[in-house]
Amino acid sequence: MVCLGNICRSPIAEGVMQEKINQHHLDWTVDSAGTESFHVGEAPHRFSQKVCANHGIDISHQRARRFIKADFKNYDKIYAMAKDVYYEIENIGSFNGDMSKVVLFLNELKPDSNESVPDPYYGGEAGFEPVYELIDQTCDAIVQRYAVPDTIDS
Ligand code: 4NP
Repeated sequence: MVCLGNICRSPIAEGVMQEKINQHHLDWTVDSAGTESFHVGEAPHRFSQKVCANHGIDISHQRARRFIKADFKNYDKIYAMAKDVYYEIENIGSFNGDMSKVVLFLNELKPDSNESVPDPYYGGEAGFEPVYELIDQTCDAIVQRYAVPDTIDS
């Protein structure tokens, strides 16, 4: 799960997906990263932590890191939270990254829509709940699409 700062959107996506992995006992590994280095080492934005906590998910242990070339090798799917993030991932790969692994996150919910998850960083707290809902629905769509059917409990 990749966004720009790795403090607002992708930490929520990591936390929500980890929760679904646990619920459905999936053997998946999820992580998150940012294409920019501004917030490396920081905990998620306080409103990202709060909106997740409101839904019973603790993301306070997460620390921002930068997306690196090795991530192309280490993961089967790389979800870009937004179009600008997709292009930044392409830059970091500098023609050697496997862009076939990189998918716009919201295309899993709305195929071919090429929409971006709104960045709540520049707004107030009210922007975080709609972002959470969108991420939650999209993570459900990913589980439905890629989990072996009889491993899904509900
Ligand atoms: P994120 O949001 O990419 O969802 O973590 C942002 C966080 C910080 C900045 C931009 C976006 N920033 O410019 O510092």
